[in-house]
Amino acid sequence: MTRIVILSGAGLSAESGLGTFRDVDGLWTRYDLNDVATPGGFARNPALVHDFYNARRANMRAARHNMAHSALARLSRAPGVTLVTQNIDDLLERAGARDVVHMHGRLDRALCAACGARWDAPEAMVPGAPCPECADPVTRPDVVWFGEMPYHMDRIEDALARCDLFASIGTSGTVYPAAGFVELARMAGAHTVELNLEASGGAFDEVREGPATALVPAWVDEVLG
Ligand code: NAD
Ligand code: APR
Repeated sequence: MTRIVILSGAGLSAESGLGTFRDVDGLWTRYDLNDVATPGGFARNPALVHDFYNARRANMRAARHNMAHSALARLSRAPGVTLVTQNIDDLLERAGARDVVHMHGRLDRALCAACGARWDAPEAMVPGAPCPECADPVTRPDVVWFGEMPYHMDRIEDALARCDLFASIGTSGTVYPAAGFVELARMAGAHTVELNLEASGGAFDEVREGPATALVPAWVDEVLG
Protein backbone atom coordinates (compact mmCIF):
# COMPACT_ATOMS: atom_id res chain seq x y z
CA MET A 1 0.00 0.00 0.00
CA THR A 2 1.38 3.45 -0.94
CA ARG A 3 1.28 5.75 2.06
CA ILE A 4 0.35 9.27 0.95
CA VAL A 5 0.33 12.59 2.85
CA ILE A 6 -1.34 15.61 1.25
CA LEU A 7 -0.95 19.16 2.60
CA SER A 8 -3.27 21.83 1.24
CA GLY A 9 -3.42 25.60 1.67
CA ALA A 10 -5.57 28.55 0.69
CA GLY A 11 -4.93 27.99 -3.03
CA LEU A 12 -7.09 24.85 -2.88
CA SER A 13 -10.15 27.00 -2.11
CA ALA A 14 -9.19 30.03 -4.22
CA GLU A 15 -11.36 28.93 -7.18
CA SER A 16 -14.28 28.57 -4.79
CA GLY A 17 -13.96 32.29 -4.15
CA LEU A 18 -12.32 32.10 -0.72
CA GLY A 19 -9.39 34.52 -0.53
CA THR A 20 -5.79 33.46 -0.08
CA PHE A 21 -3.46 35.29 2.27
CA ARG A 22 -0.36 36.35 0.38
CA ASP A 23 -1.45 36.64 -3.22
CA VAL A 24 -1.87 40.06 -4.83
CA ASP A 25 -5.28 40.68 -3.23
CA GLY A 26 -4.67 38.36 -0.29
CA LEU A 27 -6.22 38.78 3.14
CA TRP A 28 -2.92 39.92 4.61
CA THR A 29 -2.79 42.78 2.15
CA ARG A 30 -6.11 44.04 3.56
CA TYR A 31 -5.80 43.14 7.24
CA ASP A 32 -2.85 43.21 9.61
CA LEU A 33 -2.57 39.61 10.77
CA ASN A 34 -1.30 40.87 14.11
CA ASP A 35 -4.74 42.39 14.72
CA VAL A 36 -6.91 39.46 13.58
CA ALA A 37 -4.82 36.25 13.75
CA THR A 38 -2.88 36.45 17.02
CA PRO A 39 -3.83 35.94 20.69
CA GLY A 40 -2.68 39.51 21.36
CA GLY A 41 -4.96 40.90 18.69
CA PHE A 42 -7.91 39.00 20.18
CA ALA A 43 -7.12 40.28 23.68
CA ARG A 44 -6.87 43.86 22.42
CA ASN A 45 -10.00 43.89 20.25
CA PRO A 46 -12.16 40.74 20.26
CA ALA A 47 -14.92 42.48 18.29
CA LEU A 48 -12.54 43.12 15.37
CA VAL A 49 -11.40 39.49 15.40
CA HIS A 50 -14.97 38.17 15.55
CA ASP A 51 -15.97 40.49 12.67
CA PHE A 52 -13.03 39.20 10.61
CA TYR A 53 -13.95 35.53 11.14
CA ASN A 54 -17.71 36.15 10.91
CA ALA A 55 -17.18 37.62 7.42
CA ARG A 56 -14.97 34.67 6.41
CA ARG A 57 -17.54 32.21 7.84
CA ALA A 58 -20.32 33.85 5.77
CA ASN A 59 -18.14 33.68 2.64
CA MET A 60 -17.41 30.03 3.37
CA ARG A 61 -21.09 29.16 3.77
CA ALA A 62 -21.91 30.91 0.47
CA ALA A 63 -19.08 29.13 -1.36
CA ARG A 64 -19.22 25.78 -3.13
CA HIS A 65 -16.52 23.14 -3.18
CA ASN A 66 -14.63 22.82 -6.46
CA MET A 67 -13.26 19.95 -8.60
CA ALA A 68 -10.02 19.88 -6.62
CA HIS A 69 -11.88 19.38 -3.33
CA SER A 70 -13.90 16.58 -4.97
CA ALA A 71 -10.79 14.85 -6.28
CA LEU A 72 -9.11 14.98 -2.86
CA ALA A 73 -12.32 13.68 -1.28
CA ARG A 74 -12.16 10.69 -3.62
CA LEU A 75 -8.49 10.12 -2.76
CA SER A 76 -9.17 10.46 0.98
CA ARG A 77 -11.26 7.27 0.84
CA ALA A 78 -8.29 5.22 -0.37
CA PRO A 79 -6.25 3.30 2.25
CA GLY A 80 -3.03 4.86 3.51
CA VAL A 81 -4.00 8.49 2.76
CA THR A 82 -3.60 11.30 5.32
CA LEU A 83 -5.34 14.49 4.18
CA VAL A 84 -3.89 17.49 6.07
CA THR A 85 -5.04 21.05 5.47
CA GLN A 86 -4.01 24.47 6.76
CA ASN A 87 -7.40 25.71 5.64
CA ILE A 88 -10.12 26.45 8.15
CA ASP A 89 -12.97 26.10 5.66
CA ASP A 90 -15.20 23.00 5.37
CA LEU A 91 -15.15 22.61 1.59
CA LEU A 92 -13.28 19.30 1.68
CA GLU A 93 -15.94 17.89 4.03
CA ARG A 94 -18.72 19.26 1.82
CA ALA A 95 -17.02 17.53 -1.15
CA GLY A 96 -17.29 14.23 0.77
CA ALA A 97 -13.77 13.95 2.18
CA ARG A 98 -13.45 11.91 5.34
CA ASP A 99 -11.10 12.40 8.29
CA VAL A 100 -9.65 15.78 7.18
CA VAL A 101 -6.80 16.84 9.50
CA HIS A 102 -7.34 20.59 10.11
CA MET A 103 -3.98 21.66 11.60
CA HIS A 104 -5.11 25.31 11.88
CA GLY A 105 -8.58 24.52 13.22
CA ARG A 106 -12.01 25.08 11.70
CA LEU A 107 -14.01 28.24 11.05
CA ASP A 108 -17.31 26.41 11.69
CA ARG A 109 -16.24 25.52 15.24
CA ALA A 110 -16.00 27.62 18.39
CA LEU A 111 -13.64 27.22 21.36
CA CYS A 112 -13.81 28.24 25.01
CA ALA A 113 -10.48 29.80 26.02
CA ALA A 114 -11.17 28.87 29.66
CA CYS A 115 -12.23 25.22 29.62
CA GLY A 116 -11.34 24.10 26.11
CA ALA A 117 -14.90 23.11 25.18
CA ARG A 118 -15.66 23.08 21.43
CA TRP A 119 -19.01 23.41 19.67
CA ASP A 120 -20.48 24.31 16.29
CA ALA A 121 -19.93 28.03 15.74
CA PRO A 122 -23.03 30.21 15.25
CA GLU A 123 -23.39 32.30 12.08
CA ALA A 124 -21.85 35.24 13.93
CA MET A 125 -19.79 35.11 17.13
CA VAL A 126 -19.76 38.12 19.45
CA PRO A 127 -17.47 39.14 22.33
CA GLY A 128 -18.64 37.90 25.73
CA ALA A 129 -20.94 35.13 24.49
CA PRO A 130 -20.75 32.54 27.30
CA CYS A 131 -19.26 29.09 26.89
CA PRO A 132 -22.09 26.51 26.84
CA GLU A 133 -20.06 24.31 29.20
CA CYS A 134 -18.55 26.65 31.81
CA ALA A 135 -20.26 29.99 30.99
CA ASP A 136 -16.89 31.76 30.72
CA PRO A 137 -17.27 34.82 28.44
CA VAL A 138 -13.98 34.34 26.56
CA THR A 139 -15.16 32.33 23.56
CA ARG A 140 -13.33 32.44 20.20
CA PRO A 141 -13.22 30.82 16.78
CA ASP A 142 -11.57 27.38 16.98
CA VAL A 143 -8.70 28.62 14.76
CA VAL A 144 -4.96 28.33 15.44
CA TRP A 145 -3.39 31.80 15.44
CA PHE A 146 0.19 32.91 14.86
CA GLY A 147 2.32 31.94 17.79
CA GLU A 148 0.01 29.08 18.78
CA MET A 149 0.75 25.41 18.25
CA PRO A 150 -1.18 23.78 15.42
CA TYR A 151 -3.43 20.79 16.06
CA HIS A 152 -2.73 17.08 15.36
CA MET A 153 1.05 17.49 14.99
CA ASP A 154 1.87 14.05 16.44
CA ARG A 155 -0.39 12.36 13.92
CA ILE A 156 0.96 14.48 11.04
CA GLU A 157 4.61 13.91 11.90
CA ASP A 158 3.99 10.17 12.28
CA ALA A 159 2.36 10.01 8.84
CA LEU A 160 5.20 12.03 7.26
CA ALA A 161 7.84 9.73 8.80
CA ARG A 162 6.27 6.75 7.01
CA CYS A 163 5.04 8.23 3.73
CA ASP A 164 6.02 7.20 0.20
CA LEU A 165 4.39 10.17 -1.53
CA PHE A 166 3.92 13.78 -0.32
CA ALA A 167 1.89 16.37 -2.19
CA SER A 168 1.70 20.07 -1.33
CA ILE A 169 -1.30 21.78 -2.91
CA GLY A 170 -2.00 25.53 -3.04
CA THR A 171 0.24 26.73 -0.25
CA SER A 172 3.02 29.31 -0.35
CA GLY A 173 5.04 27.32 2.17
CA THR A 174 5.80 30.39 4.29
CA VAL A 175 4.37 29.31 7.66
CA TYR A 176 5.99 26.70 9.87
CA PRO A 177 5.62 23.93 10.82
CA ALA A 178 3.60 23.20 7.63
CA ALA A 179 6.39 24.68 5.48
CA GLY A 180 8.77 22.06 6.85
CA PHE A 181 6.64 19.03 5.98
CA VAL A 182 8.27 18.53 2.58
CA GLU A 183 11.66 18.11 4.25
CA LEU A 184 10.27 15.55 6.71
CA ALA A 185 8.76 13.62 3.79
CA ARG A 186 12.03 13.77 1.88
CA MET A 187 13.87 12.40 4.94
CA ALA A 188 11.42 9.49 4.93
CA GLY A 189 12.40 8.78 1.33
CA ALA A 190 9.07 9.95 -0.14
CA HIS A 191 8.58 11.34 -3.63
CA THR A 192 7.52 14.98 -3.15
CA VAL A 193 5.31 16.92 -5.56
CA GLU A 194 3.99 20.47 -5.51
CA LEU A 195 0.73 21.39 -7.27
CA ASN A 196 0.48 25.17 -7.23
CA LEU A 197 -0.50 28.13 -9.39
CA GLU A 198 3.18 28.98 -9.37
CA ALA A 199 6.15 27.23 -7.81
CA SER A 200 6.60 28.26 -4.17
CA GLY A 201 10.35 27.64 -4.37
CA GLY A 202 10.22 24.72 -1.95
CA ALA A 203 12.53 21.72 -2.50
CA PHE A 204 10.16 19.31 -4.30
CA ASP A 205 11.13 16.43 -6.59
CA GLU A 206 8.37 17.51 -8.96
CA VAL A 207 6.49 20.78 -9.50
CA ARG A 208 3.31 21.15 -11.55
CA GLU A 209 2.10 24.71 -12.14
CA GLY A 210 -1.50 25.63 -12.77
CA PRO A 211 -4.86 26.06 -11.05
CA ALA A 212 -5.83 23.39 -8.53
CA THR A 213 -9.05 22.54 -10.36
CA ALA A 214 -6.96 21.52 -13.40
CA LEU A 215 -3.98 19.90 -11.68
CA VAL A 216 -5.54 18.02 -8.76
CA PRO A 217 -8.14 15.83 -10.53
CA ALA A 218 -5.54 14.71 -13.11
CA TRP A 219 -2.98 13.99 -10.37
CA VAL A 220 -5.51 12.01 -8.29
CA ASP A 221 -6.42 9.93 -11.37
CA GLU A 222 -2.72 9.11 -11.81
CA VAL A 223 -2.29 8.18 -8.14
CA LEU A 224 -5.39 5.98 -8.03
CA GLY A 225 -4.34 4.38 -11.33
P1 NAD B 1 5.37 32.17 11.39
O1 NAD B 1 6.53 33.03 11.70
O2 NAD B 1 5.53 30.71 11.29
O3 NAD B 1 4.62 32.66 10.08
C1 NAD B 1 4.54 34.00 9.88
C2 NAD B 1 4.40 34.13 8.39
O4 NAD B 1 3.30 34.96 8.19
C3 NAD B 1 5.65 34.74 7.79
O5 NAD B 1 6.41 33.75 7.13
C4 NAD B 1 5.08 35.73 6.83
O6 NAD B 1 4.94 35.11 5.56
C5 NAD B 1 3.70 35.98 7.34
N1 NAD B 1 3.57 37.25 8.05
C6 NAD B 1 4.07 37.60 9.26
N2 NAD B 1 3.70 38.85 9.57
C7 NAD B 1 2.93 39.27 8.53
C8 NAD B 1 2.22 40.46 8.26
N3 NAD B 1 2.23 41.47 9.12
N4 NAD B 1 1.55 40.55 7.10
C9 NAD B 1 1.52 39.50 6.24
N5 NAD B 1 2.17 38.36 6.44
C10 NAD B 1 2.86 38.26 7.57
O7 NAD B 1 4.23 32.47 12.46
P2 NAD B 1 4.45 32.32 13.99
O8 NAD B 1 4.00 33.56 14.65
O9 NAD B 1 5.82 31.81 14.27
O10 NAD B 1 3.36 31.20 14.25
C11 NAD B 1 3.71 29.89 13.96
C12 NAD B 1 2.64 29.07 14.62
O11 NAD B 1 1.35 29.71 14.46
C13 NAD B 1 2.53 27.74 13.98
O12 NAD B 1 2.17 26.83 14.98
C14 NAD B 1 1.40 27.91 12.99
O13 NAD B 1 0.71 26.69 12.78
C15 NAD B 1 0.53 28.89 13.66
N6 NAD B 1 -0.10 29.74 12.68
C16 NAD B 1 -1.44 29.81 12.55
C17 NAD B 1 -1.98 30.67 11.64
C18 NAD B 1 -3.44 30.84 11.45
O14 NAD B 1 -3.90 31.94 11.10
N7 NAD B 1 -4.21 29.79 11.61
C19 NAD B 1 -1.20 31.44 10.86
C20 NAD B 1 0.17 31.29 10.98
C21 NAD B 1 0.70 30.49 11.93
N1 APR C 1 -4.66 26.88 -7.59
C1 APR C 1 -3.53 26.47 -6.96
N2 APR C 1 -2.78 27.26 -6.18
C2 APR C 1 -3.21 28.53 -6.01
C3 APR C 1 -4.37 29.04 -6.62
C4 APR C 1 -5.11 28.14 -7.44
N3 APR C 1 -6.23 28.52 -8.08
N4 APR C 1 -4.49 30.35 -6.27
C5 APR C 1 -3.46 30.63 -5.46
N5 APR C 1 -2.66 29.56 -5.31
C6 APR C 1 -1.45 29.42 -4.51
C7 APR C 1 -0.54 30.65 -4.51
O1 APR C 1 0.37 30.58 -5.58
C8 APR C 1 0.15 30.49 -3.16
O2 APR C 1 1.30 29.68 -3.28
O3 APR C 1 -1.87 29.27 -3.19
C9 APR C 1 -0.87 29.75 -2.30
C10 APR C 1 -1.54 30.64 -1.26
O4 APR C 1 -0.55 30.98 -0.30
P1 APR C 1 -0.98 31.76 1.02
O5 APR C 1 -1.89 32.88 0.65
O6 APR C 1 0.28 32.06 1.78
O7 APR C 1 -1.88 30.72 1.83
P2 APR C 1 -1.35 29.51 2.70
O8 APR C 1 -0.07 28.97 2.15
O9 APR C 1 -2.48 28.60 2.89
O10 APR C 1 -1.01 30.22 4.13
C11 APR C 1 -0.54 29.38 5.18
O11 APR C 1 -0.75 31.20 6.74
O12 APR C 1 -1.89 33.06 7.46
C12 APR C 1 -1.70 31.72 7.65
O13 APR C 1 -3.31 30.38 8.67
C13 APR C 1 -2.96 30.96 7.47
O14 APR C 1 -3.13 28.63 6.95
C14 APR C 1 -2.62 29.88 6.48
C15 APR C 1 -1.12 29.87 6.48
